[in-house]
Amino acid sequence: MNGRDVRRVGVVGLGAMGAGIAQVAVEAGYDVVGRDVTEDLCAKAGERISHFLQRKVDKSQLTPEEREVALARFAPATSLEELAQCDVVVEAIVEDLEAKQALFAQLDEVVRGDAVLATNTSALSVGDIAASTSTPERVVGMHFFNPAPLMPLVEVVRAELSSDDAVETAFALAESFGKRPVRCHDTPGFVVNRILIPLLNDCIRVLDEARVSPEDLDTAMTAGAGWPMGPCALVDLVGIDVHVHASEALYAKLHDPRTAPPPRIVAMRNEGLLGRKSGRGFYTYESR
Ligand code: CAA
Repeated sequence: MNGRDVRRVGVVGLGAMGAGIAQVAVEAGYDVVGRDVTEDLCAKAGERISHFLQRKVDKSQLTPEEREVALARFAPATSLEELAQCDVVVEAIVEDLEAKQALFAQLDEVVRGDAVLATNTSALSVGDIAASTSTPERVVGMHFFNPAPLMPLVEVVRAELSSDDAVETAFALAESFGKRPVRCHDTPGFVVNRILIPLLNDCIRVLDEARVSPEDLDTAMTAGAGWPMGPCALVDLVGIDVHVHASEALYAKLHDPRTAPPPRIVAMRNEGLLGRKSGRGFYTYESR
């Protein structure tokens, strides 16, 4: 089974992840309806996509014409009704179960009955989100990694009631984006975060245990373990708030102390040090 034909993709929530997913979809030739709550947020996402496609033109990875064609495929929207004719809708809003459930209940009403509804959640249960709809068989996880345009992996997550057709449609869509999807079940943290979150929390604990600076810890893990970027730079990229939330969600389900967010990073979150997006986390950033 290869899933069904997809022409139009909806993306709900146009932050760093949603804009990245929309970028990948327009580059792959899909018409994309990108929805966020205000015109300003939609415009910022459009600018972000435009910026990264221009960088590709600058590096001769894309022609100026290809960039124009790709950008023209992105249709910003502030109303959910504009997603009605999408074949697949990918949700990338805030990591809050109630917010996602409220959104999926609305998507269930407005989006064509045979469309697939996918969540990009990183640590919530896809089944819990699907439970807010009357059609849980069409709900799956499509978990992209940050930065979505650069990271090849997509975890295609099957919840208890997901249909084979929905899972295979999401898998084929991810492949057509040029990604390397894997299929997995709806367990806490799925595959990567089940491993990566406790590991990153260990790294943060080592900062205090070994009294090593973030710079030196990052050097240790890039130069000594071959990581493409150090753990502090990675948590700054993902977002300190996102990492704390994912850790709390995993801890609530697994009760493994390694998944609990270390106090140091909870304090950073509480102080508004959110990483790249706030301009400061373990490091300071000029451009966000
Ligand atoms: N969106 C779109 N394009 C982007 C981008 C973004 N956010 N960031 C960078 N790019 C583009 C830029 O155009 C950039 O080129 P310029 O700087 O010339 O403009 C180009 O990509 C290449 O960027 P880099 O030179 O920074 O690329 P790199 O070779 O250094 O690799 C990396 C960057 C892929 C991020 C690499 O460092 C890496 O693999 N890091 C690990 C990332 C990782 O582990 N991510 C997973 C996080 S966990 C997660 O996401 C799960 C979760 O649920 C929270």
